[in-house]
Amino acid sequence: MTRTITSIEDLRLIAKRRVPRMFYDYADSGSWTESTYRANSDDFQAIKLRQRIAVDMTNRTLASTMVGQPVAMPVALAPTGLAGMQHADGEILAARAAAKAGVPFTLSTMSICSIEDVAEHTDQPFWFQLYVMRDRAFIDRLIDRAKAAGCSALVLTLDLQILGQRHKDIRNSLSTPPKPTLANLVNLATKPRWCWNMLQTRRRHFGNIHGHVEGVADMSSLSSWTATQFDPRLSWDDVKRFQDRWGGKLILKGILDPEDAENAARTGADAIVVSNHGGRQLDGAMSSINALPSIVAAVGSKVEVLMDGGIRSGQDVIKALALGAHGVFIGRAFLYGLGAMGEQGVSLSLDIIRRELDTTMALCGLRDVKDVDRRILAAVCGCQSARADTHPRDFGSFSCGDGPVATVAGAATAAPPIIGSPHAEALGQSR
Ligand code: GLV
Repeated sequence: MTRTITSIEDLRLIAKRRVPRMFYDYADSGSWTESTYRANSDDFQAIKLRQRIAVDMTNRTLASTMVGQPVAMPVALAPTGLAGMQHADGEILAARAAAKAGVPFTLSTMSICSIEDVAEHTDQPFWFQLYVMRDRAFIDRLIDRAKAAGCSALVLTLDLQILGQRHKDIRNSLSTPPKPTLANLVNLATKPRWCWNMLQTRRRHFGNIHGHVEGVADMSSLSSWTATQFDPRLSWDDVKRFQDRWGGKLILKGILDPEDAENAARTGADAIVVSNHGGRQLDGAMSSINALPSIVAAVGSKVEVLMDGGIRSGQDVIKALALGAHGVFIGRAFLYGLGAMGEQGVSLSLDIIRRELDTTMALCGLRDVKDVDRRILAAVCGCQSARADTHPRDFGSFSCGDGPVATVAGAATAAPPIIGSPHAEALGQSR
């Protein structure tokens, strides 16, 4: 029986059926015990929204900006390695869906379709994500290639100089293209749609790397490539050098600590992304959503703060915005759509998130996404302050410790009018 798709979870279940196990697992896993991977989404559930009533909900808008670029909603597609293995030509399809939805697409260094290929097959500028490798001449060429392709922002990832171990990738012998082992052939036999699409394309290798570097023994395996090529000596001086060579909008990704955020802000980058790499690197690190408030407090007035990690719904998006993110990235949420149904699936995932964000914003009593701030959050501890913005302690832990954890309903008094109030200024946050 076909089930109507109403949520990102529905897309995940379809992707799990359609995508070969090694690539589904690659996307849907975290490092070691996966505790940070789980915390990323679980911690969103602890945040409660304030329901508001009897406010005009007409004429709503989700339009905003990210690094100064207009976006239909403040949600970008995150750089994700091997997207072209979730579905044949995956990066091109996702970039097209993002362009149609009016949101940015970020191409990973570790993509299957190359920068040039995506540029040739799409008509909107996209963002390019850069990993720093030992071969600096290669990095310089990558930056130049991204410029030549008209990429409108560079996303420099700073949290993957060595790879956190993902058990499933080892067990599955992750490689691209998959090696013709018995286990792989048996699994591929159950994925006829994926195989058929993959047979129609020539894009099955790391497109940005294949044919552009020499002397690498096994480029098919992400872990061996990372171990031999990624540069563990990365420093803030290097960041400055890449920034100078790039000369355009720069986004620094992988910041989870306020001190690092201060350093990142000092570079003069246009934005930072609060991120733990989707729980794929330091297992035991705090969730992105819990790290966000202290980073916004530290640098929110100096640099645009974006975040990723754990977002599976429009409700999650609005919670991140409420805690000070100017915008968010979604990774797995669009990959599930891609694996399930190609371009149409990515469009569907963006549409699901857009609708959820829009309706949730209205039910919180707001009409303009740019007005979202902490006033839409309810404190979840047992103390008497239901409003997160007037809560006695920092809201990063979502409990003030003054009482048992509980949802406080109806305790807010004297809340200022929601619609049209200059929330951001009132809270001293930058927007
Ligand atoms: C890198 O792209 C990763 O696998 O997290």
